[in-house]
This record gives sequence, C-alpha cells and structure tokens, in this order.
Amino acid sequence: MNPQVELLEPCGAMLTDVDCAQLDTALVTLIEDLMREHAVLVIRGKGHLDDEQHLAFSRAFGPLELPSARPNAHMARVAFGLYDVSNLGPDGEIADPDGPRAKIAKGNELFHADSSFNDLPSKWSILRGVIVTPEGGATELIDGRKVYDALSDASKARIAGLEVEHDYFHSRRKAGATVPSDSPLAPYMRAVHPLVRTSASGRPTLFVGAHAARILGMDEAESTALIEELLAFATQRKFVYAHKWQAGDIVIWDNRCTLHRGTEYDYRRYKRDMRRSTVNEGGEERSAIPAHLSLQMLSQPQAEAR
Ligand SMILES: [Fe+2]
Repeated sequence: MNPQVELLEPCGAMLTDVDCAQLDTALVTLIEDLMREHAVLVIRGKGHLDDEQHLAFSRAFGPLELPSARPNAHMARVAFGLYDVSNLGPDGEIADPDGPRAKIAKGNELFHADSSFNDLPSKWSILRGVIVTPEGGATELIDGRKVYDALSDASKARIAGLEVEHDYFHSRRKAGATVPSDSPLAPYMRAVHPLVRTSASGRPTLFVGAHAARILGMDEAESTALIEELLAFATQRKFVYAHKWQAGDIVIWDNRCTLHRGTEYDYRRYKRDMRRSTVNEGGEERSAIPAHLSLQMLSQPQAEAR
C-alpha cells in the first residue's frame, strides 16, 4: 500500500491506494492530518466498505452521533448508527417522489453543516457512495476557512464576536417544508455558535449555512440580511468543489469548518444509495436528539436529515 494524495480544486484532497477496511495507526494519522489541513477528503480506496466496516472506520476518529436513540423503520435498510440518505424505501425501491424522502433530499440541496443546530461539536461526516447516479447527484463542498480569508477587512471587523442561532426547523422552512411551529422537538434542535469559529487547524472559519437562523442581538431584518449576504458570498462557485461520485467513494468533511449540499438528480429515474456516519469530537455515542423524546417523535422522517 502506497497512499497517494492529490489536491482538489478549489478545496479538499483525494487519497488513493489505501484500504479503509484495514485501518492501522499510520492510516488514521494520515487521514487526521489531511483533514486538519484540507477539511474535505475524498478516499477512493481499494475495495468497497460494507456498513459494519463503515462504522468501524468512523469510530477510529470519534464517537458516533447516532441518527436517533434507537433503530426505527425508515432506517431499517442500513446498519444502526448510519444515516440512510438514499431515495430508497425499506424495500430498496425508489421511494414516493412526493413523500418524506424526496422532501429530505430537497432540504439537503441547501448548503449546510450537519447538525449545526446541536450543541455538541459535530466533528466529521463520512459519506459513502453505495449506488451512485450516472448524472447529477454531485456533492458540493466549501472550505469556510478559505471563505473567511477572502472576506474584506471591513466584513471581518463587522462580524467579529457575533453569535448565530442555528435552528433545524429554520432550514426545513427554507427548503419549503411545512413545519409546525409548536413541534416538541423544536427547543432541542437549536444551538448558538460563534459566526467566526476557530477550526481544528487553528485557522478562523466562517460558520454559516442553511440552519443559521438569527444573529443574536440584531433585529430580524438586519440579521436575515447579513446571514443571506454571508451565505451568498460563501457559496460563490469559486469556492465550491463538486464531487462526482464513483461507487465505493468515501467523502469526509469537517462540519466545523465546511459547508456541503447534495445536488439535484433524476429522483424518479435513478436509485441513489448514500450512507453517512457522523462522528463527534468526544463524549458518549448518542443521538443529536435527546433520548427522552418519544419514539414517535424520533421516527418522524424529517428528524433524520442533517
Ligand atoms: Fe448534510
């Protein structure tokens, strides 16, 4: 095995000639180092991981953020601990194009950081392509540190010290979903983060995304305008790496300093089977959704999209 690293444009790196099913200390260290530097890593390795290997690989980098406190029916196709981000129903066939899966896919087309509505720092997401589409369905990624570096000095001064509330239900509304304002989940799915965070590399990063709902201490109009302005700046094409999937690819992104989204594909025509794990920086393996909430609430399909 002779790991090869190639830089991607305008951000990220690709690692080849490795076997993620045979993780050793050297490979873990290499991946940690590449992630610290590049924040986005494509691994086009030897062989394809299965679900259990995907989980074992993920746990080498941190405790899992579980999709929900316990298994539920619409995730039954994948091993417990993985998020099913496919367009497939439990029978493996394309799910109802007007159903919750299609709505989730739509929501994931907005640039976001996974679980940024959660207090726990979500470290990485690790997405594996099982069935990929021959056209469309790219995953687009942005390095927020490069975005921050490109801001004008005046913008940097304007946003220094600001804090943003990230709210899961905000991003669902933005994606066109009807979300009840009195959902019992709502208070548990929002968290405040600095607008400028320090990444694992020590570099400052602009931390926005679709979940970013309001800037603390600002009136709503000003807050919305500033968030939209920063999002528009961050999502300029010059910052976007678009990953065209091959089956077996693994794409890792650092949720603390990148944004990502899925792009459109012909939902009715192509099967797309993607499975994701998310790891936290530390602590116990647990769901982003508190365990005391009912199974019925947890099994609402919208709660699985991040
Ligand atoms: Fe996501």
